[in-house]
Amino acid sequence: METISSATGLRARLRGEPAVAFVPTMGNLHAGHLDLVRIARQRGTCVVVSIFVNPLQFGANEDFGKYPRTLQEDCGKLEGLADVVFAPPESELYPQPQQVTVVPPLENDLCGAFRPGHFRGVATVVLKLLNIVQPQVAVFGKKDYQQLYVVRRMAAQLNLPVEIAGGETARAPDGLALSSRNQYLSAAERTEAAYLYQTLAGMRQTLREGATDYPALEQRAAQALGARGWQVDYVAVRNQADLAQPESGERNLVVLAAARLGQTRLIDNLEVCI
Ligand code: PAJ
Repeated sequence: METISSATGLRARLRGEPAVAFVPTMGNLHAGHLDLVRIARQRGTCVVVSIFVNPLQFGANEDFGKYPRTLQEDCGKLEGLADVVFAPPESELYPQPQQVTVVPPLENDLCGAFRPGHFRGVATVVLKLLNIVQPQVAVFGKKDYQQLYVVRRMAAQLNLPVEIAGGETARAPDGLALSSRNQYLSAAERTEAAYLYQTLAGMRQTLREGATDYPALEQRAAQALGARGWQVDYVAVRNQADLAQPESGERNLVVLAAARLGQTRLIDNLEVCI
């Protein structure tokens, strides 16, 4: 496995590769990331993983400064799984202030309503990375459901010659979705954190039993989280296909939530097919 930090170096390494499969990350890799790398392995002859904490997708008061940067350990985990790690310094991707940005759909909805500019930052860096790596397939996790949607729409609407594949969410035994941000949690918060998943699993059960009053379901779940000390950004029932609010009777739904425990913002979602 090689680690490459420049775009031209990466292009030179990948020249002539018949099928590049790509997994973009911000590093601090856990089992969820590695699952995506295994999917990439099945899809390409050359697997590229990028590790870049993208300043453009963090708000002024967010955790860009304290986001865990663990490049050495990450490379250890990728040894034998990936062929190339692309780990550029900030000056490589942003040699000057980024003036051209992608404005994706739903940029002010769900997480976008609470993280202004976040999805522009995500879409812009993903487009830059796809242009540098030029993969046949790029793999994203369903854990970040809105991100996967935004990237899929961008790829389709900008005619990017790449297939966007989705990987299932890897979870801890108590259901908590694996996330680099889980390590911000205190021991007590970590125990409570599984309640986010339990809330969504409860909503999934209620939907499977035939509930169609989505706003009532969302409100009840948000109240229950609030009563346990969570600060809830949103709990939402949406269509899988376009993340729009569902008509009653829609069969392919997804329940999504974002809420904070102390200083730590957690997100999760579950698909529900009725
Ligand atoms: P990051 O949070 O490092 O996640 C990298 C990829 O891993 C994303 O596609 C994310 O959805 C996926 N992922 C995270 N936790 C997961 C889990 N528990 N199970 C399965 N997949 C999981 O998402 C980003 O980085 C950035 O926004 C990025 C796309 C790299 C752009 O900067």
